[in-house]
Amino acid sequence: MSIDAAFGAVPRAAFVPDLVWVRGGDGWAVPLRRQDDPERWRALVESDDAVTTQMDDGATGRGMWPTSSCSAPSVVREMLELLDLEPGHRVMEIGTGTGWNAALLARITGPENVTTIEIDPALAARARLNLSGAGCPVRVITGDGEAGHPAGGPYDRVIATAAVAELPHAWVRQTRPGGLLLVPWAPTFHPDGPLALLTAHTEGHAEGRFVAPSWFMPLRGQRISQPDRNAYKSRWTQAGEPACDRFGITVTSEGQTIWLDTPANPITP
Ligand SMILES: C[S@@+](CC[C@H](N)C(=O)[O-])C[C@H]1O[C@@H](n2cnc3c(N)ncnc32)[C@H](O)[C@@H]1O
Repeated sequence: MSIDAAFGAVPRAAFVPDLVWVRGGDGWAVPLRRQDDPERWRALVESDDAVTTQMDDGATGRGMWPTSSCSAPSVVREMLELLDLEPGHRVMEIGTGTGWNAALLARITGPENVTTIEIDPALAARARLNLSGAGCPVRVITGDGEAGHPAGGPYDRVIATAAVAELPHAWVRQTRPGGLLLVPWAPTFHPDGPLALLTAHTEGHAEGRFVAPSWFMPLRGQRISQPDRNAYKSRWTQAGEPACDRFGITVTSEGQTIWLDTPANPITP
């Protein structure tokens, strides 16, 4: 199925929970319940914005940091296009969230080929229900996505929908040679949190470039502090603010190197 057909077949509204979060004027986010304001809820779901579905790993009254969301439709579409998917491709997604992206993946490649991993058990349980309700019974694993899920691989495609500062090497090992990894980055060397598109090679080696800005919430376990963010940003400013598509990355079993323009010019994030 094409990406357009998948969007038509899997409505976002079926995946967004009745309780979502909206930011107030005082900087805090508060719950918006569908039954209290159905028009506002519907407008959010039909917008091209990310819809926040969890704050502070499960806040109830008010919250500061979004920790799960249903990503913006244009971002979801751009990532699906970059993945260059074909029917039958085995795909691993890290960050199930609502399950919407996993459902789109399932429509394009076949539900039996999709493995999605969510660290938060309550979110994973809800996503499972959403996915089976939408007729997309993909494998939803509850656990830390940094380990990947070797049993579902080797994968033709790996997509993360939470940002990393360090690419977990397990993801490279579980991708077949020639397969692609699409991974949003924390703002460590560029403030826009750019999206990396890597090709896996043999023996745990992968290389690629940063292709576009992305702004995803970080993986649990890879969160960076505001002072660190500020330090990274001032290093980038001092370097003359290079555009994100000038950066690239090489990953081996020894570690990862971010470089500017060419692998011969590594940078220290
Ligand atoms: C932007 S949301 C994902 C959006 C989702 N793909 C969708 O279609 O709704 C990021 C998700 O990553 C999850 N997450 C964060 N750290 C994780 C980890 N280490 N392993 C697996 N999931 C993680 C969060 O709990 C959150 O649900």
